[in-house]
Amino acid sequence: MARFEKHVFVCQNERKPDDPRGCCLAKGSAGILDRLKGELHKRGLHRRIRINKAGCLDQCALGVSIVVYPEAVWYGRVTLADVDEIIEKHLVGGTPVERLRTDLVRRLLFVCVQNSGRSQMAEAFARLHGGARVEAYSAGSRPSGVVNPRTIEVMREVGCDLGRAVSKPLSAVPDLEYDVAVTMGCGDECPRVRARRREDWALPDPKDLPPEEFRKVRDEIERRVKELLAGL
Ligand code: FES
Repeated sequence: MARFEKHVFVCQNERKPDDPRGCCLAKGSAGILDRLKGELHKRGLHRRIRINKAGCLDQCALGVSIVVYPEAVWYGRVTLADVDEIIEKHLVGGTPVERLRTDLVRRLLFVCVQNSGRSQMAEAFARLHGGARVEAYSAGSRPSGVVNPRTIEVMREVGCDLGRAVSKPLSAVPDLEYDVAVTMGCGDECPRVRARRREDWALPDPKDLPPEEFRKVRDEIERRVKELLAGL
C-alpha cells in the first residue's frame, strides 16, 4: 500500500448559485485540483504527495479552501496563481505559504464606552462566527461594571448566552498587539491599544432605543463582524 508523505485536501463542494454561503467549486476549486495533480505528476511527486477531493471544509467564506496533512496547515482564498508557490514552497520545501494560511488564530478587540452593549455583542458574534480561528475580547473606555440586561436579552434571541459576561476596562484584557481593534463610540476618550489594523464603527448606543431599534443595532453588529471575519 502506498504511503504518502503528505495529503492535500481540496474542497470541491458545490452549492446552488443563490446559496449565500457560496462554495469553492464556484470559485474555481476544480481547476486548482487539476493543476495540483498535473504539476505533481510533471515533477514526479505524485507517489509522495497525494491530492484528494474534499467536501466542505467549513470555511466557505474563505474558499477556495485547502488543508495539508500531516502538518494540518489550512489555506484559504487559494487561486490558480498560488498553486506553484504552494508546491514549491510548502509541499517540496516544507515551509507553509503564510499569506494564505487561515489556521493562524487572529486576535480581535472590540471597545465601546461602557462595555455593556455594542462591544459585548461584537465579541459574542466574533466567537460565534469565528470559531477556533478567532480570539475575541471586549472592553469599555468607561466600563459600567454591568452588562445591560437588554443586551443579554436580545443576544439570547439569537442563541448567544451573555449571562456570565462582565463589563470591564481595557486593563482587564490581554496586553498584546491585536490583529484588529474596533472602536464604537468611544472616540478620543478611547485609550490607544496596540493593533495592526483599526476600525471605527459609527453605531448608536442602543441602550435607550426601543426594542426593534435595539435589535437593528444587534443585527448590524453581526453583519459587520461577519464581514470583518471574512476579510481576515
Ligand atoms: S464550500 Fe469549500 S469550504 Fe465550504
